[in-house]
Amino acid sequence: MTEAILLVGGKGTRLRPLTVNTPKPMVRAAGVPFLTHQLARARAAGVDHIVLATSYLAEVFEPHFGDGSALGLHIEYVTEKEPLGTGGAIRNVSSRLHSAPDDPILVFNGDILTGLDIAALVATHQQTNADVSLHLTKVPDPRAYGLVPTDETGRVQAFLEKPQTPEEIVTDQINAGAYVFRRSLIDTIPAGRPVSVERETFPDLLATGAHLQGMVDSTYWLDLGTPAAFVRGSADLVLGRAPSPAVPGRCGDRLILPTATVAPDAKLTAGTVVGEGAFIAEGTRISGSVILPNAVIEPGAVITDSLIGTAARVGERSVLTDTVIGDGAVVGADNELRDGARVWCDAMIPPGAVRFSSDQ
Ligand code: GTP
Repeated sequence: MTEAILLVGGKGTRLRPLTVNTPKPMVRAAGVPFLTHQLARARAAGVDHIVLATSYLAEVFEPHFGDGSALGLHIEYVTEKEPLGTGGAIRNVSSRLHSAPDDPILVFNGDILTGLDIAALVATHQQTNADVSLHLTKVPDPRAYGLVPTDETGRVQAFLEKPQTPEEIVTDQINAGAYVFRRSLIDTIPAGRPVSVERETFPDLLATGAHLQGMVDSTYWLDLGTPAAFVRGSADLVLGRAPSPAVPGRCGDRLILPTATVAPDAKLTAGTVVGEGAFIAEGTRISGSVILPNAVIEPGAVITDSLIGTAARVGERSVLTDTVIGDGAVVGADNELRDGARVWCDAMIPPGAVRFSSDQ
């Protein structure tokens, strides 16, 4: 049996303002709740028991995924009364694990989309006889991340806070949010209080001489921390750049879910997904976007890199670029929204109310 813990709690896990009652892992990316992709990838890598550790809107996960059997998994749910942080959440589910003390336990951050070779991470862990193994990824600009330098054998040397000066950028390797723990180590994390793996558990382990192994895997990796990243991730799933067995259909330029209606001359490109029951009118152009179920896009609207919420409506000729339209919101005809604009759930923008056109 291979067991995994999926961390889907903490603060700020809603994709504001798109979803009032939906935690981000349940927002649909490429047609299914984002978490489905992670669960399906874990299953494909041989995981059969998953404990979902959450602290927030927990009641939405279980009704959807149930016991996990539809995905070939056995899923259990553990809800923290107060968020316990990443380390605290791992410790809190320890009693649900059945593995032997030396067995590998996978841990995944719930807000990462990645093509990580999970089996290779477990193999590295076992070959190096590490206590914890971490997926590391290289980023062009590591300033926004904690850095994880390793020696020539891949052994982790330190966990460094976000670099403040150029001299502090000693590596471009960052923690990519997937780990393998030796089972027995999980019980050494303090119970019943918030603990951060990056700031407490891992540095403490290093200080006591534990073996932390890094595995750099430069495969697809995306932190879904912002709505723009979430939209990008969905498009990459549709395009097949981010591999997932859970994409409901063939990968390609677009994914149109059953019961959606799309006018023959509508142009859907760059990984756009159209959810069930959505209506895409004639003369629309939609690129790299997520259209959630039952949304209505009226004739001539142009939508790029945006997320249109469930049952939201975008009026005729409106032009939306890099925007989030909340569930049930209405953008009237002839509006122009861009650059991260977010329209709250159920809000209404009258026709011709917002423009970004040049004054020239
Ligand atoms: P700490 O390491 O605890 O300080 O969290 P962080 O802020 O560094 O973690 P981050 O926000 O990057 O979250 C990483 C993953 O852990 C995400 O998938 C979060 O949903 C999850 N997570 C963060 N905090 C908690 C928590 O308190 N409980 C649970 N169950 N999951 C959490």
